[in-house]
Amino acid sequence: MCGIVGCVTAGDEAPRILISSLKRLEYRGYDSAGLAILGDGEIETMREVGKLANLENSLGDKSIGGSTGLGHTRWATHGRPTEVNAHPHRDGSGRIVVVHNGIIENYRELRAELREKGHVFASDTDSEVIAHLVQSNFDGDLTDAVAQSIRRLKGAYAIGVMHADRPELIVGARKDCPLVVGLGEGANFLASDVTAVMDQTNRVVYLGDEEIATIRRETLEIRKLSGEAVDYTPTTISWSLAQAERGGYPHFMLKEIHEQPTVVSDTLLGRLDEDKGEIRLEELAIDDEILKGIKRVNIIACGTSWHAGHVAKFYIEQLARIPVDVDYASELRYRDPVLEEGGLVIAISQSGETADTIAAMRMAAKAGCKVVGVCNVIGSTIVREADGTIMTHAGPEIGVASTKAFVSQLVALLLFSLKLGRVRGVLSEGDIRKHCQRLRQLPHAVEAALQSEAHVREVALKYVSAQDFLFIGRGVNYPIALEGALKLKEISYIHAEGYPAGELKHGPIALLDEKLPVVAICTESTIYDKIVTNVEEARVRDAKMIVIASAGDDAIQEVADDVIYVPRMDELLSPIVNVVPLQLLSYFVARERGCDVDQPRNLAKSVTVE
Ligand code: F6R
Repeated sequence: MCGIVGCVTAGDEAPRILISSLKRLEYRGYDSAGLAILGDGEIETMREVGKLANLENSLGDKSIGGSTGLGHTRWATHGRPTEVNAHPHRDGSGRIVVVHNGIIENYRELRAELREKGHVFASDTDSEVIAHLVQSNFDGDLTDAVAQSIRRLKGAYAIGVMHADRPELIVGARKDCPLVVGLGEGANFLASDVTAVMDQTNRVVYLGDEEIATIRRETLEIRKLSGEAVDYTPTTISWSLAQAERGGYPHFMLKEIHEQPTVVSDTLLGRLDEDKGEIRLEELAIDDEILKGIKRVNIIACGTSWHAGHVAKFYIEQLARIPVDVDYASELRYRDPVLEEGGLVIAISQSGETADTIAAMRMAAKAGCKVVGVCNVIGSTIVREADGTIMTHAGPEIGVASTKAFVSQLVALLLFSLKLGRVRGVLSEGDIRKHCQRLRQLPHAVEAALQSEAHVREVALKYVSAQDFLFIGRGVNYPIALEGALKLKEISYIHAEGYPAGELKHGPIALLDEKLPVVAICTESTIYDKIVTNVEEARVRDAKMIVIASAGDDAIQEVADDVIYVPRMDELLSPIVNVVPLQLLSYFVARERGCDVDQPRNLAKSVTVE
């Protein structure tokens, strides 16, 4: 997830406007930032690694002015966060610049083709191919060149393009990534979302997929890829700026819960190869031969990431038939664990900076293990030090309670498990194809799970005064029960525990009475009957049963006080969908109790100390 902005104004104001717009998009990425300003027939670019403030400081030292420009704030996906990989990117002639958000799946093929024609590439990014493609298609009309170029792109993109010989013009286009045009007085703007243009205007046009916008100071023309003109109607935004920064949601946490369908698609993007029956994980950088020989996997993580590790244990054992241990990093580092040379260690961390996870990972590396980091932040310590990585493409998570990052970890870990299964011959090409087909439906299923929001809120309001909660699940959904309990306790300050449902009768059943709400994950699975029995056991002891069930399971209503339905899913994918109502439940309980949902007391987003 990156942020892009553009403007066509009068005078020399473009740098100031673009910096102020980029500040509103820092939530989309902040590992590097850049600007391209067009004045006097030349484009000047500036790029800086790190937060936007670095770019702003270096801009302060220079006297750059111009009426037209593009800007970018990056969250690296392909290529490390370096100046060379920062946007804007230029073509070989330096006359065309491009800013891009998204992932171009076929950039390697395009780059090879363009190299054959003599193009020389400066960066490791997928985005740079767009600048070279536009140059190779440019015949005097920038909009035509962009249209021809995007026909060649596979993947997702929102782009802004500028040509040094075309003053007061920017061209924007998108597919599966957001892009809006802001309509001002004698000036027009381009941005990844409305927050970036709200200082300038509240009239915006949302571009549709594969639409191309030709933006001049006084005019906006939009056309489809076919060339047909689009008749657009501007929308007037009535949100306050603070609301707009959260996409109109009252809290970042709710916004991030709603981003999950997109996050799932982004984490899958470019990784499913049905033609070859393969999972493509390029940054993994560990030979298939090594993966084939692995005898044991150790997973290390903390908190929510540790829950993702428990789901992964289920995935790896079932799909690749390798035994898996899951450890809290803070425990493993002070034990004398058996970490053998040639073993595989998976370090899971959203931030990539959790002190305990880093220490445990270093211990494993010293013992001769191969370390794979599953991480959301590309330049982070874990990514830098691991032998290979699987990036989770969730974009920056602002809410302290992890939601979308967790879901992206589950998707990444499932992809890795499928790859391990294939490499080791447990799964055939045909099996992988079937899994790919199911995975392609996953973003829609997560979207469908979000439809329960209004009902989850009603349920939350019923139990808002409870003192304790119990969450139960079995099999691959047992870690989801743990995650539901953690989410509730950290943001609502209600005591909550997660338990494997089969363990109830070994102790916690003593707690059950009419004051204790029990949330049971009871979706379709091979052990569905077992968990229904556990639900009945709790219900006859007067506990209030809130049941997460598969759509169409009418019978479950007989044993539940409240049922929250989710789409029917393949069991392996069910955790990714089942966690959604649990996130919403904790969100609404905490909100109703007046808690600071995005910044719960005593918690930090990145735990960089022991
Ligand atoms: C809970 C939460 C924490 C983190 C934990 C590890 O919502 O966010 O439990 O999961 O602090 O952080 P990372 O994943 O950055 O290593």
